[in-house]
Amino acid sequence: MCGIVGYTGARPALSIVLDGLHRLEYRGYDSAGVAMVSDGELLVEKRAGKLANLEKALDELPSGCGMAEGTTGIGHTRWATHGSPTDRNAHPHLSRDNGIAVIHNGIIENFAKLRVELEAAGIEFTSDTDTECVAHLLAEETAALDGGGRPEQRLAEAMRRVCRRLDGAFTLLAVDARAPGAVVGARRNSPLVVGRGTGENYLASDVAAFIEHTRDAIELGQDQVVLITPDSVEITDFDGRPAAGKDFHIDWDASAAEKGGYDCFMLKEIAEQPRALADTLRGRLGASGEIQLDEVRLSDQDLRDVDKVFIVACGTAYHSGLVAKYAIEHWTRLPCEVELASEFRYRDPVLDRSTLVVAISQSGETMDTLMALRHAKEQKARVLAICNTNGSSIPRESDAVLYTHAGPEIAVASTKAFLTQLVACYLVGLHLAQVRGIKYADEVSAVVEQLQAMPSKVDRVLETMEPVRELARALADSRSILFIGRHVGYPVALEGALKLKELAYMHAEGFAAGELKHGPIALVDQGTPVVCVVPSPAGRGVLHDKVVSNIQEVRARGARTIVIAEEGDEAVVPYANDLIYVPRTPTLLAPLVTAVPLQVFACEIAAARGHDVDQPRNLAKSVTVE
Ligand code: M6R
Repeated sequence: MCGIVGYTGARPALSIVLDGLHRLEYRGYDSAGVAMVSDGELLVEKRAGKLANLEKALDELPSGCGMAEGTTGIGHTRWATHGSPTDRNAHPHLSRDNGIAVIHNGIIENFAKLRVELEAAGIEFTSDTDTECVAHLLAEETAALDGGGRPEQRLAEAMRRVCRRLDGAFTLLAVDARAPGAVVGARRNSPLVVGRGTGENYLASDVAAFIEHTRDAIELGQDQVVLITPDSVEITDFDGRPAAGKDFHIDWDASAAEKGGYDCFMLKEIAEQPRALADTLRGRLGASGEIQLDEVRLSDQDLRDVDKVFIVACGTAYHSGLVAKYAIEHWTRLPCEVELASEFRYRDPVLDRSTLVVAISQSGETMDTLMALRHAKEQKARVLAICNTNGSSIPRESDAVLYTHAGPEIAVASTKAFLTQLVACYLVGLHLAQVRGIKYADEVSAVVEQLQAMPSKVDRVLETMEPVRELARALADSRSILFIGRHVGYPVALEGALKLKELAYMHAEGFAAGELKHGPIALVDQGTPVVCVVPSPAGRGVLHDKVVSNIQEVRARGARTIVIAEEGDEAVVPYANDLIYVPRTPTLLAPLVTAVPLQVFACEIAAARGHDVDQPRNLAKSVTVE
């Protein structure tokens, strides 16, 4: 979703802001813009499309126009919600007198009413966005405060007054030509962090924007306004009462957000999976064999009282939840339901204080998941978050947290986050089973040992991916690719299809293998590629044999079968046009190895089709609107 950067200090702001916007590109966007305060003037440039379009426009400005000299500025990458992605709708948006510039992430839900009021007062809008009304409201409020206090304090007070009138989710930044050296920010239900420098300060939607300049950060709390100048950071609530954010130190380095020699972030992140798994598992077994979560604001008794588990998540995180259901039900004997976060609260789920809701999210800011979490809390359910982003909204609002230590995931398509979410889900299942007395410490340790073997197994999968890449190139012109699996192989099939849709813009669907004969098998035609995820023959023989029968069914109808099976599984050989072997793994943990070839497959097909693998069209990394 939209990326936001603000800077004030002694250095030229433009290059710092543009660098920050580049680092936020991974969030997904379709236009970009900047506003610089220079010599008492506000200079704005914005363009539809990629940052290169904006940079070209900036290069064409007359030298000495002041844009490159200003030491205070804001910048924005926009992912369109209200109004199409055009130059005119790109941020920043200006007040009528061109004195105030505003950038925004989120949705102002009452903007239509505010716009009517402003238009009735004679203001002409120059865009179709919800954001523009904030620029006009800020101008009205600063004018009303004229004569009272310093210009930067007036801007901050105006922001507080405006925020009190806004409904919805927003991160806002504003600069005022009359307040050089100041950037004012505000947040509600959308992230905003301050980066503290020496003689300079930063604001951004996430720390990636300023990590090369400072590691000292402050996470702004809900409904707070911040005023930064080169030497100060002042935080208040929306009513002007002094407030504090949450100080933290950024512990990953800037190179973690660089491509490190890979052609794209996705390839780098696929390769990082063994390390990400090892990091997520590190230190999880306590002295007496109990699983360690990261933050626990729940007692063991609370967990013993749980009589039902709900998992809520979106996209890839939802698929990790679907796998978790098998493990949690098997290990804890508690009923576990998995629900798309965007659907959860609309069907009035039955929740109470003995329900445990597990919210899974890489970013920790996905609005659908956050709203599902809040609904669960309103019904008094306990919430446990599985998240990759320290200090983000979802873990902050949860009763317990298990962080996946995948490091920053930049590519829009989730890979290492998925694998680490699976590990985190297994750990949560084991923790519940242990606290509830269903598994003994030695049984838990035995599964943890199996998990600890997974990083090297994933490593082995990665070493054998060249045939998968070749196959992907050969199938790059396919019209459609189907994926089938049973048990934990079914969510893997869904995930394989999602990866292909989002990266290759190709029709792809995942099915429960047994469901094929109830309709989807009609899609199978001569040469249709069908990827079949086969369970271990060692684990559950019946399951394995059923999937082998399903492979025969699609082959009999002309499918080209691409079979992912365990090393040594000879039974699949006669029915596989293409065979991808993965290391032997206990059935419940198998998705950790079977998902990897599907990531590589989708990435390679997308590259062969000439797509931007890291930033697929229409998508955003962090979806902060419902
Ligand atoms: O940040 P989250 O894990 O909450 O994001 C959820 C989905 O938006 C995300 O997994 C999405 O489906 C990915 N682009 C899939 O690769």
